Amino acid sequence: MKIVKNIDELRKDLNVYRSEGKSIGLVPTMGYLHEGHASLIRRAREENDIAVVSDFVNPIQFGPKEDLNTYPRDLEADSKLCEEIGVDFIFAPEASEMYHDRKAFVDIEDMSNNLCGAKRPGHFRGVSTVCTKLFNITGADRAYFGQKDAQQVAIIKKVVADLNIPIEIIPCPIVREDDGLALSSRNTYLSKEERKAALCLSKAIFKGEELAKSNASVSEVLEKMKEIISSEKLTKIDYISAVDLATMEDAKDFDGDRLVAIAVFIGKTRLIDNFIYRA
Ligand code: PAF
Repeated sequence: MKIVKNIDELRKDLNVYRSEGKSIGLVPTMGYLHEGHASLIRRAREENDIAVVSDFVNPIQFGPKEDLNTYPRDLEADSKLCEEIGVDFIFAPEASEMYHDRKAFVDIEDMSNNLCGAKRPGHFRGVSTVCTKLFNITGADRAYFGQKDAQQVAIIKKVVADLNIPIEIIPCPIVREDDGLALSSRNTYLSKEERKAALCLSKAIFKGEELAKSNASVSEVLEKMKEIISSEKLTKIDYISAVDLATMEDAKDFDGDRLVAIAVFIGKTRLIDNFIYRA
C-alpha cells in the first residue's frame, strides 16, 4: 500500500493501472475510519482491481461555526486498517494541495435546499466540489458512499449524471453498533451520558420505518419520531423530514420512494440518521 499526498503522483501511478485495463474503486473519506468506512473499503477491494481510499478533511464543506478544527484525524490508524483490508493507495493530500488557488466550484441547485443542505449552507457545494475533484484525479470506475449521508449520495449521483462524469456511484448500507447507533466519526465526541442519549436517533428511525411500512401517514411517522427524540434530555432536533428520494423535496405521503431523515444535536454533537421507504 502506498500513501500519496500529491495529485500528479497519484494520477501517474493510477494511469499505469488504467492503461493495463485495470478497474479502480474509490472510497472518499475524511479519515478517522470506523467499521462503516471499512464496509465500503472491503466492497471496493472486492469489486475492483485497484482500491483507493481518499483520506482528506475537506475544509470547504465545513461552515464557519462547525467542527473543522476539532474533526478527529488519525492517518496512522487509518493506514493500518486500509493495509489490513488490502487497499492499494491512500490519497491523503494537504488542503493546500487540493485548493491552492480555488476559483471554480461544483454547485447543485434545489437538491441542497432541504435537510442538511438547508442547515449547513455551502456544505454540499464543498462536498460536490471535492468529490468531482477526486473523481477527476483518480479516474475511478466506481465510488462507494455510505447511505447514512443519504442526501450526499443523491446529490453526488445527480452531479455525476449532469456533468457526465464516467463513474458509477455505489450506495452502501448504514452500519450500526449492536445497540443501533449509526457509526460516525463524530460519535467520538459523545460523553458516556450523551452516548446513551444518542440511541434515541436509531430508536426513532426504527419506529418510523415500522410505522411507514404499516401505512401510517407522513405526519404520523414524523410526529412519533419527534416524540421519541424529545423524550430524551440532551437532545435538540435540527430537522426531522420526509422527502422524495430523487429530488429531496418535501413529501406529504408515502406514494413514492422517500427518504426520512433526521439531524439531532446531542449536547454539542450533531448526528444524522435515516431510513429509505420504497413504495
Ligand atoms: O462523507 C464524507 O465523509 C465526506 O462528505 C466526503 C464524501 C468524503 C467528501 O469530503
